[in-house]
Amino acid sequence: MASESLDKIRLTSAVPNHVAIIMDGNGRWAKQKGLPRQVGHREGMKSVRETIEGAIEAGIKILTLFAFSTENWNRPRKEVASLISLLRHYSRKERDSLKRQGVEVHVLGEIERFDDSTQEAVDLIVKGTKGGRTLRLNLMISYGGREEILRSVKVLAERVDQGGLAVDDIDEEALRQTLLTGNMPDPDLLIRTSGEYRISNFMLWQIAYAELHITPVLWPDFTRDHLFEAVLDYQRRDRRFGLIETS
Ligand code: IPE
Ligand code: IPE
Ligand code: MG
Repeated sequence: MASESLDKIRLTSAVPNHVAIIMDGNGRWAKQKGLPRQVGHREGMKSVRETIEGAIEAGIKILTLFAFSTENWNRPRKEVASLISLLRHYSRKERDSLKRQGVEVHVLGEIERFDDSTQEAVDLIVKGTKGGRTLRLNLMISYGGREEILRSVKVLAERVDQGGLAVDDIDEEALRQTLLTGNMPDPDLLIRTSGEYRISNFMLWQIAYAELHITPVLWPDFTRDHLFEAVLDYQRRDRRFGLIETS
């Protein structure tokens, strides 16, 4: 099945350059099995691995994964602790294999909110994978779309304050460049697992024209086949960007 969908992807139109995923449903996956939520999060790591491999096979160049939101800090302390420890563990364990795969990891979000050893592990995975040319992987951690825009507004206001920027020169391009995603192209395709029809404060600026693919599959059950299915769905869309139809 996997290779069949891959063939189809290659024969159809262009593969999305940038795919972003809201990885949701770990808790429900565990609950359905009568297991603690942490087990769901741990299982979700396998899907991360599988999705990275699938993205490389499909020829996707940028993969952005929403792993922990600003709002997730308000979950019970025990759950937050287990998510952070998983992140630390993942960063240490996957560094070498990601490097081998040519994956360059970027971590976007308020990393300074994490404890020192987690920050250090995150730092090492970023440094250790620098220069990877096959896939750029953005891990969105302690990330919130509104906070990101606010941060940009403050950066621009400061430049105005210091006389380096005129108010009239604040345009989309100027704001875009100050986002955590900087000069990176916007996501072409946004996938959300677990069947929730919402954005949950994710990349509010960048997804203005992303194609949305919502699947009922819970994140720990997500495989490369589901990724390929989403890409095929994307390839059937007519992206008009406010213009008239192109096909
Ligand atoms: C997604 O799974 C992972 C994070 C948000 C950190 P959830 O933990 O949100 O799982 P559900 O939505 O409760 O099933
Ligand atoms: C979104 O999932 C955040 C991540 C996937 C990291 P949530 O489970 O936190 O979102 P809501 O609460 O369903 O909106
Ligand atoms: Mg959730």
